Amino acid sequence: MSHVIVVDHPLVQHKLTLMREADTSTASFRQLLREISLLLAYEVTRTLPMTTKRIVTPLEPMDAPMIEGKKLALISILRAGNGLLDGILELVPAARVGFVGLYRDPDTLQPVQYYFKVPQSLEDRMTIVVDPMLATGNSSVAAIDLLKKAGATNIRFLCLLAAPEGIKRMQEAHPDVDIVTAAIDSHLNDHGYIVPGLGDAGDRMFGTK
Ligand code: URA
Repeated sequence: MSHVIVVDHPLVQHKLTLMREADTSTASFRQLLREISLLLAYEVTRTLPMTTKRIVTPLEPMDAPMIEGKKLALISILRAGNGLLDGILELVPAARVGFVGLYRDPDTLQPVQYYFKVPQSLEDRMTIVVDPMLATGNSSVAAIDLLKKAGATNIRFLCLLAAPEGIKRMQEAHPDVDIVTAAIDSHLNDHGYIVPGLGDAGDRMFGTK
């Protein structure tokens, strides 16, 4: 069974509370998302494999720690994933980036694919899938299905908020994929929104409502 890691750092929790508030402006929401994604990126990359490199400091040679292997792959589930992606790229600027376009059919709540473009050699990379809201889990599961078909084997999922229903769905479909989140909320409402949540993450970050 995969692990669910809740990042309970005070800075993350404080910023998340500000993001949840209904009267937080689009500009503030975006800024907070950027800041929080840096902190979440720190946690989601904690298990990156390490090696050492022989270097020479001004005082003496040493075997210094370095990240091993090919560059990370960051996969954004469009469109809300892009809000998390920007912050993570500030911390890991050399990461390779892919996009999975899925929209949620409003009647069935099932994901429909409209775009898929990912880096090469996924089998050799840690692949971090980002989507702020793990709600029903349908899109996340579908995106990870596609990534596994494309070769990814070492996958982690990063979100801001998760619903218990989404976690269950992900753990059933992809028990090998650890989930990193800032909070686990109460439940989903009849429209598939996380409660208490923060509303529609895409609308709030792009100001489309
Ligand atoms: N997507 C969102 O943006 N918000 C939710 O609460 C659920 C899915």
